[in-house]
Amino acid sequence: MTERNKEFFPDELQNKLRDQFYYLDTDLNGDKRLFFENAGGALRLKSAVEKYTEVSIIPDSPVRNYDIAQIINQYITDGKGDIRQLLNATGGEVAISLTASKIIFEMITAAAIYLPKGNVVATSIDHPSSFDACQFSSEQYGHELRVAKADAATGSIFLEELLSHIDEETRVVSLILTSNITGAMHDLETYTKAIHDKNSETIIIVDAVQGAPHELIDLSKCYVDGINLAPYKMFGLRGTGFAWMSERLAAVPHHRLLATDETNWDLGSATPALYASFSQVVNYICSIGQYFIGEAERRTLIEEGMTRIQLQEQAILNRLLNGTDSIEGTKKLKNVTIHFEAANGVKQDLILAMTFSNISNSRAVEIYKENNIQVFARESDSHYSKRILEAVGLESLVRVSPVHVHNAADVDEFLRVTKLINEM
Ligand SMILES: Cc1ncc(COP(=O)(O)O)c(C=O)c1O
Repeated sequence: MTERNKEFFPDELQNKLRDQFYYLDTDLNGDKRLFFENAGGALRLKSAVEKYTEVSIIPDSPVRNYDIAQIINQYITDGKGDIRQLLNATGGEVAISLTASKIIFEMITAAAIYLPKGNVVATSIDHPSSFDACQFSSEQYGHELRVAKADAATGSIFLEELLSHIDEETRVVSLILTSNITGAMHDLETYTKAIHDKNSETIIIVDAVQGAPHELIDLSKCYVDGINLAPYKMFGLRGTGFAWMSERLAAVPHHRLLATDETNWDLGSATPALYASFSQVVNYICSIGQYFIGEAERRTLIEEGMTRIQLQEQAILNRLLNGTDSIEGTKKLKNVTIHFEAANGVKQDLILAMTFSNISNSRAVEIYKENNIQVFARESDSHYSKRILEAVGLESLVRVSPVHVHNAADVDEFLRVTKLINEM
């Protein structure tokens, strides 16, 4: 197993990045707070919000042929280009919807309606948006729903288990890139190639909402037909979900103004500001790449930027687990269990899935809050968590999800409070 990186960003870069986010140290009330809930939303980039406002105040329609209209229309073209660059996707279509859930539902149901009756394969740790889209489509359009089981130790889906459900009748496979509850990361290249080798006709749909902000995606090495992401979990804005689709998925009959191309998924007036805002997110990733390698092509900067983000997040995870000479890491605390990470190693996202044995997990979350740290309890009474927790044999867990702009001092403050809870 490759060793986890331990080196944080240089201070100069770290401070520069920290200045670019809202509410890093304080909450809406002006109270001190560490936001370790970036798997439920994410710290917002100031530039993404500012650009949204700058473009939103322009009254013109982007579908006119005069100068201002052309300027704002260019934001749409550039934004779509940036989504492709981020994913390293060529061809196909970029689509937008109000939420990531809505766009993945649309992709899965369109394929399920169009394809002959067969089976649809989901996994037990899929987010409800993709899982329910698979179940709904199976029930409505006469497919058999097959569900790949999770491995409880890693909180992931083993490739052999997934493949065992796929045959020549499989129409759609749904795969989550990174679980937003367990933090387990699936290797997209290996998984999609193996699925494709088993059935090259199968439509492969990937939920990258949790994975995209934390790891590099390279679709040129994968067999993906549909992939979604949510800007609000990626330093951007709520109110939109993006997707990229392969030619063959984009061409499947779907809701469309019928005079437009058959692969077009834009329906109604586009919002240039949403694309312009997301381009700021991509600019930000590039600026991290640029710090390390200087000027380069945009995709090269994205590759460097995302790789550096992942390394920084591995360093944060390492410190959360192992602490330092002056403060104990979570792994050393007798009343704390850290799930999944030991089995996953570097295939663990910056999500600490913890349980406490001396106190309820929900009480622990309250104590973190009383100490100005925002984390989240995933409980089985939430329909967002129930099936996934059951799949990995847990009733609840405390999910801790910092992000790359957090520094060593933030981690140490979290460890101080965790030690306090451990000793209660
Ligand atoms: C992995 C994953 N997929 C999909 C979604 C759905 O996003 P939304 O609720 O914005 O549609 C989320 C949201 O948290 C998620 O974490």
